[in-house]
Amino acid sequence: MRTRSRIICSFAVLLFCTLNGYAQESTAVVSPISSSSVSQSTSLVSSRPTSTGTLTSSASATTSQATTTVINPTSTGTLTSSASATTSQATTTVINQSQGASFPPVGSIPREYSPENLDRFWAIVGEVEAPPFTTTPVPKTPIALPTPPPQLYPSFFSPAPKDILPDLKFPKGFLFGLDTAAFQVEGAVKDEGKGPTMWDWATRQPNAVIDNTTGDITDLQYFLYKEDTARVTPLGVNAHSFSISWSRIFPFGTADSPVNQAGLDHYSDLIDYSIEQGVEPVVTLFHWDTPLPLQSFYGGFTSGEIVNDFVHYAKTVFKAYNGRVKTWYTFNEPRVYCGQIASYPFDVTLAPGVNVSTAPYQCSYNLIRAHARAVKAFREMGIQGEIAFKNDDFIGPPWRINSTEDAEASERHTAFQIGVFSDPIYKTGDWPKILTDTLPPSYLPRLNESEKRDILGSADFFAIDSYRVQLISAPRDAGGIRGCVADESHPLWPTCNEIMSFDTGGWSVGVSADPAAPWLQATPGLLRGALREMQKRWPTKKMYISEFGFVEPFEGTRQPQELFQIKEDVARTNYFMTYLGEILLAIHEDKLPIAGAFAWSMVDNIEWGSGLSTRFGIQYVDDTTLERSYKRSAFALAEFFKAHLQ
Ligand SMILES: *[C@@H]1O[C@H](CO)[C@@H](O)[C@H](O)[C@H]1NC(C)=O
Ligand SMILES: *[C@@H]1O[C@H](CO)[C@@H](O)[C@H](O)[C@H]1NC(C)=O
Ligand SMILES: *[C@@H]1O[C@H](CO)[C@@H](O)[C@H](O)[C@H]1NC(C)=O
Ligand SMILES: *[C@@H]1O[C@H](CO)[C@@H](O)[C@H](O)[C@H]1NC(C)=O
Ligand SMILES: *[C@@H]1O[C@H](CO)[C@@H](O)[C@H](O)[C@H]1NC(C)=O
Repeated sequence: MRTRSRIICSFAVLLFCTLNGYAQESTAVVSPISSSSVSQSTSLVSSRPTSTGTLTSSASATTSQATTTVINPTSTGTLTSSASATTSQATTTVINQSQGASFPPVGSIPREYSPENLDRFWAIVGEVEAPPFTTTPVPKTPIALPTPPPQLYPSFFSPAPKDILPDLKFPKGFLFGLDTAAFQVEGAVKDEGKGPTMWDWATRQPNAVIDNTTGDITDLQYFLYKEDTARVTPLGVNAHSFSISWSRIFPFGTADSPVNQAGLDHYSDLIDYSIEQGVEPVVTLFHWDTPLPLQSFYGGFTSGEIVNDFVHYAKTVFKAYNGRVKTWYTFNEPRVYCGQIASYPFDVTLAPGVNVSTAPYQCSYNLIRAHARAVKAFREMGIQGEIAFKNDDFIGPPWRINSTEDAEASERHTAFQIGVFSDPIYKTGDWPKILTDTLPPSYLPRLNESEKRDILGSADFFAIDSYRVQLISAPRDAGGIRGCVADESHPLWPTCNEIMSFDTGGWSVGVSADPAAPWLQATPGLLRGALREMQKRWPTKKMYISEFGFVEPFEGTRQPQELFQIKEDVARTNYFMTYLGEILLAIHEDKLPIAGAFAWSMVDNIEWGSGLSTRFGIQYVDDTTLERSYKRSAFALAEFFKAHLQ
């Protein structure tokens, strides 16, 4: 593990903590990348939106997709560790020595809600780094922005942000938002009564995170939230989409366990301060940080027991913040989460009877019921405002124009990646037919009539984390789709489609992000088509671009003394400007009811299995001092929104 000699250097005392003095260690290390194979479903590194394999967590998910890369070379292999491996070694916690993830057998720790038992759960995580300070500095507002950067290009080549489509405005009330998620930015993981989460554990498992970064400190937004809010208001930001850590509210997770008042108070303060600063709080209840005790008691989302516990947590939070929060999400990117939970290292924590092949679908089944029941409670309780969940992924055009096989592959992609939740929630109450035709009920449990009734209509608007759109091909082997669907051992089963990052002429579909984020390309030209398709298939009166963002190539390899280069995030700036122009066109020409766009992310943060090697922030965060610095993209967004908001 990288040693952090962190200097206590809050914003209050930054004047005395110069960068030079404390920038002694390297930031992130990017491991060598092999470009010939892919192990999307078995490696944490692709846990953000990934390509085909995410819901395919079968042992055979190692494919040879020319368009993606393995980031973590050690996890190229497939996983065979399963619930049966757990039970066969009931006395030991190590499940698979070669992968090395270690978790006590599910069900082996009693449901007892004492401080001693919480310590027992923390012991599974291991030692945790304490934050350098535990108070919240109150910034003097308004914070003065530094001088904006000079124009990037001559205007004959590229207009200034304010001059992009100057006659088009966003509709009144449009949200200019920034995103964060609890695990990725908060730090202070063991402070103020919080219980351990599965990500506190996962980051400590061998080869799970590329640079061994944990969430122990990260941006310390748990204590620096006032600074962070105050730093973005002068940019014109009027919304902050953040997630609540379930483990801060219920350290043990369960419905019959004690609530942690300090956790409730924290988010109450964050909400109040945001409102006071003119920033609308947008709340996600679950952004992947499952309370560890729930995984230990019954296997988390691979067990139906999660439904009641989630609904109880949701009701507690609804009640606490009703009237102050107006836009709610139950789940962030459930499809990605359910792929992640079937992958290393989480694959040693599944419910009895669930294996790595079935886990993504068992998770989907439990999660969608948890979502529907939480929304039902939201409505029964008369909670003010709107609620939905955050979709991820895209609807991709066929790779070969006029190929009926590729058109069918594109439908399969849509069904597995978005339709899995959006078809039941917005359209039918039931799984897409492509899924039930492909997956037996032992994989994907069927929904009964009362479940369907609860699910259908359980969202008030459509939110999409719209990072990129790529092209979709049928499996490029002799068997094509039919051969793949009929063969469970086919590497692309059950999705039976391939994501293509380049067209049939061999040209990239867009500018590629950092090599450590091989799934991500800037594809503004494909955005509107995908959004139109979403509105056509799952029509709603309101859409949000709930996340979009870019990893500047090689930014993660730069040293703090290269700050001037880090701040010059050209590719990210171009990404945001072109996407926002397309969003304006989608509103004005396609008449899409887009009511807000949320840039990921407010600050650099721990990108799950990629650690700090891939950075999404519009602000750089110095790892040692925690000092934030605006990048060019922050100013470009500010200028764009200032000119286009009304
Ligand atoms: C452990 O993991 C390795 C690498 O993924 C795999 O090859 C091996 O079969 C697994 N062993 C067991 C006992 O599951
Ligand atoms: C991460 O930790 C492992 C095990 O402690 C070590 O072997 C590896 O070199 C570390 N990787 C980095 C990038 O620091
Ligand atoms: C997982 O369980 C399913 C359903 O019981 C079974 O068909 C499949 O072979 C199992 N897969 C593995 C890898 O054990
Ligand atoms: C696709 O089909 C249309 C209508 O049949 C035809 O006009 C067009 O040239 C075809 N495009 C390609 C690239 O084959
Ligand atoms: C449907 O499934 C739920 C569990 O999600 C169960 O409680 C309910 O009794 C079932 N209803 C019917 C009509 O089978």
